[in-house]
This record gives sequence, structure tokens and C-alpha cells, in this order.
Amino acid sequence: MKIGILTSGGDCPGLNAVIRGIVLRGTTSHNLEFVGIRDGWRGVVDGDFFPLTRHEVKGLAKIGGTILGTSRTNPYEGPRGGAENIAKTLDRHRVDGIIAIGGEGTLAAANRLSDDGIKVLGVPKTIDNDLRATDYSFGFDTAVNIATDAMDRLRTTGDSHQRCMVAEVMGRHVGWIALHSGIAAGAHAICIPEVPMTMDEICQQVTKAHDRGRAPLVVVSEGFKLTGQTEAHSDKGLDAFNRPRLGGIGEILAPEIERVTGIETRATVLGHIQRGGSPSAFDRVLSTRLGLHAADAVVDGAWGKMVALRGTDIVQVPFVDALGALNTVPLYRYEEASALFG
Ligand code: F6P
Repeated sequence: MKIGILTSGGDCPGLNAVIRGIVLRGTTSHNLEFVGIRDGWRGVVDGDFFPLTRHEVKGLAKIGGTILGTSRTNPYEGPRGGAENIAKTLDRHRVDGIIAIGGEGTLAAANRLSDDGIKVLGVPKTIDNDLRATDYSFGFDTAVNIATDAMDRLRTTGDSHQRCMVAEVMGRHVGWIALHSGIAAGAHAICIPEVPMTMDEICQQVTKAHDRGRAPLVVVSEGFKLTGQTEAHSDKGLDAFNRPRLGGIGEILAPEIERVTGIETRATVLGHIQRGGSPSAFDRVLSTRLGLHAADAVVDGAWGKMVALRGTDIVQVPFVDALGALNTVPLYRYEEASALFG
């Protein structure tokens, strides 16, 4: 059997480790053959494939990014898009099935293609950790480590100047990165998309920390909304899926905090730093295991499913289980952390 592997959507530390895991297990245990698909669904639509052997994946577990390239292409768009055309393209290249490594958009496309008769398997990916049906997604732990390290650094400079430091982290719809890195770094306020707050509430926590002689640290998810705001802050236009490109809420909060509290305040947007570089050891293990199990899933004929983490086990779940609703931060997890605020 010849299987195409693609990475689609925003990149994420651990993608290369998944690819390596699939190819090693697939070639050594199952006699599978692989092709790499360049730039996500774009490569499927264009038939842009290249042979992927053990040689191409050597040493990849620790390398960030993706050797396959990625894009946010919709496989149903364009003159060569759609399930019928894709079936013909795969047939022409003698590719029997696809393993798609991606987030919600990728898995939604994979689910639709699967319903339309294409053999597709999924591996969930997102630094935001916003996918249901998997306890953790790889890339998240690395992002939390990077954000925590950045905030540790912000705290020493904040302490020196007795300033309030605002750190903006990724998290389009969910606040997992903010919550975990905020707890790890000892933030005095954590602002996440799931829990709107007023400026006064944020400023109270800042003032409380400052009054105790601390340099306040505020962590905010890019998707955070102040009470009453209906949309997250966006002034960068739309992405390929017509979603607003987020980022910049930290720069909105900082001058307001300074104006209301009188405490000098600086904002830092961590942005794509959180997605770059080597995966953490946790993410290398998780992504390698997902890759190994994805190769097994091909042999099981588990098309229309994705591999996922449940507790410490890797299981197979239908695409639909991961779609429709997001893995949001439950209120009790936020309330638990609130003892640390202010
Ligand atoms: O989905 C992961 C993510 O990193 C989000 O946190 C962020 O909003 C988005 O991707 C950024 O996308 P892009 O790399 O296209 O700017």
C-alpha cells in the first residue's frame, strides 16, 4: 500500500516527529510505502508528491516545523479540488490513502473527503490544545514551556523597574496556553477567551499585586474579550479561511492598565515564537507515539478516524468526535487557579 502524508494548517513543534513515527513503523512493521505531500491539501489537489523513506525522516524527532511544508488550502476549492478530482489524482499516482496531520480545519476537510469516499486518516495537531477527543495535542506543551520561559524573563525586568508586564500568548478560542503558562510563571492575572473580564477587574488584580510589592504579570490569550466585547481584537484582516487574524489585545490592555492604575506597564506579544523551534521531550514522545499508531491504523483500515491521546493510551476515534465543539477551559479549572491571582 502507498500512503501520502500531509501537514496542514498552522505548523506546530512535533509535526516532523509524527512523520518520522509513521514512516518508521509503516516501513519496518507493515511494509507500507510512503509519499510526502507538499504544503498540505494544496499538494493533494496538485498531485505534488515525493518519495518518503527512512532516509528522509532520520533525526527528525527534535526538529521544529514540517519537512512537508504546510498551507491553509481548502481541498474543495479550485478547478482541481473536490473529492472526484482528488480521487483521480491519487489514482494516477497510485496513492491508496492519506494521513492528514492537522487541526480542526484540516480534520473537518478530512472528514468531508472521507464521507466522499477518499481514504483518509487523521492525526490531531494544535498548539492551542483546543481539539476535543484528545486529552492533549502535541505542540501545546512546547508552547507552554516557551511562554513560561518568556514570562520568567519578563518578570525579572518587570521587578527591576517595578512595572506591570502584560504577556500576550496564542489561543484563538481557548485559554489553555495562557492558563498553564500563567500558573507556571506565577501570573497575577490570567485573561482567557472563556472568561470575559472588565478593565476594572484586571486592574484590581494588578493593583493588589503591586500593593504587596510585586511587579504585576498579566497573561492574556489573543482571543480574550473584555466584558461586553462580542469579537476578539483583530486589526490584521482575515486568514485563508476568512477568520480574523488575531493578536494585539495585549497592546490594548497595557496603556489602559497604566492609565487606570498609574503603574507603568509594558506589553509583549509572544506570537509565532510559541510555534517555532524544537519540540519539548513530552511533545516528542506524544507525536512519535501518534505517528506509530497512525501507521498501525492504516493496516487496521481505520479510515475516517484519527489517533488520539486518552489518559496515557493512544486510541482511534471518528473524525466527528473531534469536530463541532472545542476543548475549552472548564470554569472549575479557571476558578481553581484564581487563588493565585492578585
Ligand atoms: O491555530 C494555531 C494558531 O497558532 C493560533 O493560536 C493562532 O491564532 C493562529 O494559529 C495563527 O495563525 P497564522 O500562523 O496563520 O498567523
